[in-house]
Amino acid sequence: MTAQNNNGGRLIYGCMGLGGDWDSPDYGPGDVDAAAAAIEAARGIGITLFDHADIYTRGKAESVFGDVLAASPGLREQIQLQGKCGISLAEGGVPGHYNLSREAILERVNASLQRLRTDYLDILLLHRPDPLLEPSEVAAAVGQLMAEGKVRALGVSNMSAAQIDYLQDALETPIVANQLEMSLHKAAWVESSVLVNRQEGFDAGFPHGTIEHCVRKGIELQAYGSLAQGRYTGAPYASPTAADRETAGLLARFAEDNGTTPEAALLGWLMKHPAGISPVVGSSRPERIAACAGAAEAATSMSRIEWYSLWTAARGAAMP
Ligand SMILES: NC(=O)c1ccc[n+]([C@@H]2O[C@H](COP(=O)([O-])OP(=O)(O)OC[C@H]3O[C@@H](n4cnc5c(N)ncnc54)[C@H](OP(=O)(O)O)[C@@H]3O)[C@@H](O)[C@H]2O)c1
Repeated sequence: MTAQNNNGGRLIYGCMGLGGDWDSPDYGPGDVDAAAAAIEAARGIGITLFDHADIYTRGKAESVFGDVLAASPGLREQIQLQGKCGISLAEGGVPGHYNLSREAILERVNASLQRLRTDYLDILLLHRPDPLLEPSEVAAAVGQLMAEGKVRALGVSNMSAAQIDYLQDALETPIVANQLEMSLHKAAWVESSVLVNRQEGFDAGFPHGTIEHCVRKGIELQAYGSLAQGRYTGAPYASPTAADRETAGLLARFAEDNGTTPEAALLGWLMKHPAGISPVVGSSRPERIAACAGAAEAATSMSRIEWYSLWTAARGAAMP
């Protein structure tokens, strides 16, 4: 069992579910224990990269993770931490907004390091494109953080090929990752690649050429929402469609035929794509994390027909 695919994709653990409630300002020992159990389960299936953001559970995801690190000597050196900055949640009458100014990047990264109780982030992602960002300011902040040893590599999230190039022109360090929502359910990333000459392809809402651009430039494609929030794997779901039910049935059958789980089959569908997609696993439950173990193997054993059958079932329509 390995968390690494033969085309370069790997499983990443998403920490958004750690730290308890988004609405509560505090966390307790139970939240730290839950984080420790999730981290152990993720490491148990070979995951080494942990995905954070300063805003997850309003900073508490980083805080509980920091507590686990402090209680586990040697753990920090065995894993990689990925952080994000750039989103300011609504607070005190100020609406939610984005801020990738030099000052905001420096302040947010320093606060994340404190909460995580670590000296450095292995990767810093710019969380969302801020229309007011000045590439030279991003370059100045990132250059300073790298010179101080606080950030080792830079990536982005929710960005198009054009936005990546625009930023890259000002940077001295290569952009190493782009994290986007990509799953069998949110399949605009692959719909747009097929419907290139049809209006639906543009309506799909995924920037054309971004997948290919990232592959060509060696930028890791990280997929969030990869478990489709449990839509096909047993989450209590208000109104599943016929397409949802058919997709869930196909995943269950693939799992049974291949001695794996529906979760691994779902992630395997993403990992079979030759772009080498790295799914970010967002469950905080150890048993659900463990169920993702066979994703790389599922990708290898999934046939072209099985891959297309899953896609057509989930899209609820035959290929054009
Ligand atoms: N860059 C960005 O803009 C961005 C945006 C969103 C997320 N992310 C990252 O991506 C990670 C994953 O995102 P995500 O959490 O939206 O997507 P996900 O991995 O598809 O879904 C995980 C969520 O679905 C629930 N779930 C999954 N299977 C379930 C089932 N069978 N029954 C009940 N609930 C089930 C999990 O609950 P349990 O915890 O109870 O298992 C968890 O809340 C996050 O942790 C974060 O690191 C990044």
